[in-house]
Amino acid sequence: MKRLAPAIEFSAAAQKDVRPITALLREASLPHGDFADHLEHFLVASQEGKVVGAIGFERHGADALLRSLVVSPGLRGGGLGGRLVEQLTAAARAQGVKRFYLLTTTAEAFFAKRGFRPSARPTVPAGIAATKEFNSLCPVSAVCMSRNLEAARQP
Ligand SMILES: CC(C)(COP(=O)(O)OP(=O)(O)OC[C@H]1O[C@@H](n2cnc3c(N)ncnc32)[C@H](O)[C@@H]1OP(=O)(O)O)[C@@H](O)C(=O)NCCC(=O)NCCS
Repeated sequence: MKRLAPAIEFSAAAQKDVRPITALLREASLPHGDFADHLEHFLVASQEGKVVGAIGFERHGADALLRSLVVSPGLRGGGLGGRLVEQLTAAARAQGVKRFYLLTTTAEAFFAKRGFRPSARPTVPAGIAATKEFNSLCPVSAVCMSRNLEAARQP
């Protein structure tokens, strides 16, 4: 008989998750030096007690920088990345965030399918433009995207 895949659980990130999140981000060549400063706005996905995915945001007033989306290589393509974006969006909306911004070099098509649209860098609010990710951590070639969280229904 075929064995069911162990369930994935979602939870707010805790201090004990910093090390496994760092390992996932490092493996994916994503910035990992400063995410722990924003741990209060991070979620993790776990399977059998092991962290297999993460995502978070940095809040700047009504705007937030979505960052550090990562799924364990062996689980990619199974919908976990999409579920992490959905969960974070719901949490951010409940906290009054009105618009998400992000920078990506690898996942433009993934985010485009989830309601994000390209956003010219000069139009980005000052708080988001002042983040480390915008200033030093992401290459200038990274695409900036945004999504309005207030719209009743997003594609
Ligand atoms: C980007 C990332 C988080 C997506 O996670 P995921 O769990 O693979 O995402 P999903 O399965 O929800 O969606 C992936 C999409 O790619 C498709 N896909 C097909 N095969 C795939 C594969 N082998 N690997 C990844 N995606 C695949 C899926 O069908 C899905 O398409 P859809 O958008 O039409 O549904 C993951 O690839 C990752 O960790 N990448 C490295 C880190 C990174 O680039 N993060 C983004 C930083 S901005």
